[in-house]
Amino acid sequence: MINKKIILGVTGSIAAYKACELIRLLKKHGADVQVIMTKSAKEFISPLTLQGLSGKPVLEDMWEPSKGNGMEHINQSKKSDLILIAPASANFIAKLAQGLADDLLSNVCLARNCPILIAPSMNKNMWENPATKRNISLIIEDGGKFSGPENGEQACGDEGMGRLVNEKILLLDIKKSLSPPLFKNKNILITCGATFEKIDDARAITNLSSGKMGFSLADEAYSMGANVTLIYGRTETLPPGNIKCIYAPNHEMMNKLVKQHAKDNNIFISSAAISDYIPKTISGKLKKHKDKLILELKRSSDIILETASEFKNLFCVGFSAESEKIIENAKIKLKKKKLDMIVANSINESMGKDSAEVHIIFKGKVVHIPKKNKNKLASDILMNIHKLEAKRNNIHEYID
Ligand SMILES: Cc1cc2nc3c(=O)[nH]c(=O)nc-3n(C[C@H](O)[C@H](O)[C@H](O)COP(=O)(O)O)c2cc1C
Repeated sequence: MINKKIILGVTGSIAAYKACELIRLLKKHGADVQVIMTKSAKEFISPLTLQGLSGKPVLEDMWEPSKGNGMEHINQSKKSDLILIAPASANFIAKLAQGLADDLLSNVCLARNCPILIAPSMNKNMWENPATKRNISLIIEDGGKFSGPENGEQACGDEGMGRLVNEKILLLDIKKSLSPPLFKNKNILITCGATFEKIDDARAITNLSSGKMGFSLADEAYSMGANVTLIYGRTETLPPGNIKCIYAPNHEMMNKLVKQHAKDNNIFISSAAISDYIPKTISGKLKKHKDKLILELKRSSDIILETASEFKNLFCVGFSAESEKIIENAKIKLKKKKLDMIVANSINESMGKDSAEVHIIFKGKVVHIPKKNKNKLASDILMNIHKLEAKRNNIHEYID
């Protein structure tokens, strides 16, 4: 989002105050934000507040004669990379659908030559009204995109659809609107988190994986235009709310779900930490009568190896977490499992952490990615997957 010019259109919704936090976030991500408010929006929040946060005077009046050539709607629309309407009132959505242009914001929208992203916020009856549904279909037909709304408690006390989408999902949708759709029409299957294998009714074997890498990959793949399916095990945080997520608590479920979904996907990224050994489960609780307890573990099947050999068209990416000889061991796995790519990292430096340093290994090449935040890392990994997968399929749109 760095240096991207975003017009933030704020309209007359009770959620107008949320524009303050949104401006702060957009600026934090490096965007250059120009706020345009409707007349009604000013009833909910002061332009001065939004001016203070965006660092620029808020535009509101179409008839303001003092500015440039007096054609602010054309000037602004020429300058921007994205128009974001957040919150978007039912009234403003209706105006967009009809192509009305009776104030500065609606004029800028009509004169735009950049994408438009609309985050509605309204009472659930307004949202469910057939007129609103019709307007939304028209805007989508015309190429407009929507983020949200969400279900939940509303300002008027009702419960239902119509709340402004949460900022995490909105940010991803903004990123998606600003990024080239490298994975457009691609289905990507991702696994993440730790498996949890029961020993008895009270105990289990698991590992230190947090799921952060897989969640970041899922978010970034989504913002690059992919249809993402995420199969997740035990994780430290909740899975992303914007994509299809399926919970798989153990090896058996992970195996079943991966094989079930593999045929519908183009790319498989296995970042889950799956148990190599599974205990023989005891029903009830293991009793304490001896000084020593020997647990019998059996070798589990290698999900990515089996998947790569069964689904030949699937582009398979593995992760290799090692404590020593990180690159050498990853190269052995890449070959043995017949993967297209493997991401090698150090257990101590990456497992459960917010950042990591990795080596991406494919076709005899080793690409070093220095330590960085897992979101940025996910983006680098996906860029490498995109290049290699496009080459493998001889796609001419290959981007270097
Ligand atoms: C207290 C109050 C809260 C409102 N909240 C919303 C809302 O959340 N969403 C919405 O679509 N309209 C809401 N409205 C109605 C709009 O403000 C009204 O339709 C207005 O004409 C929208 O103008 P605009 O689209 O030009 O900003 C509310 C009105 C009032 C008085």
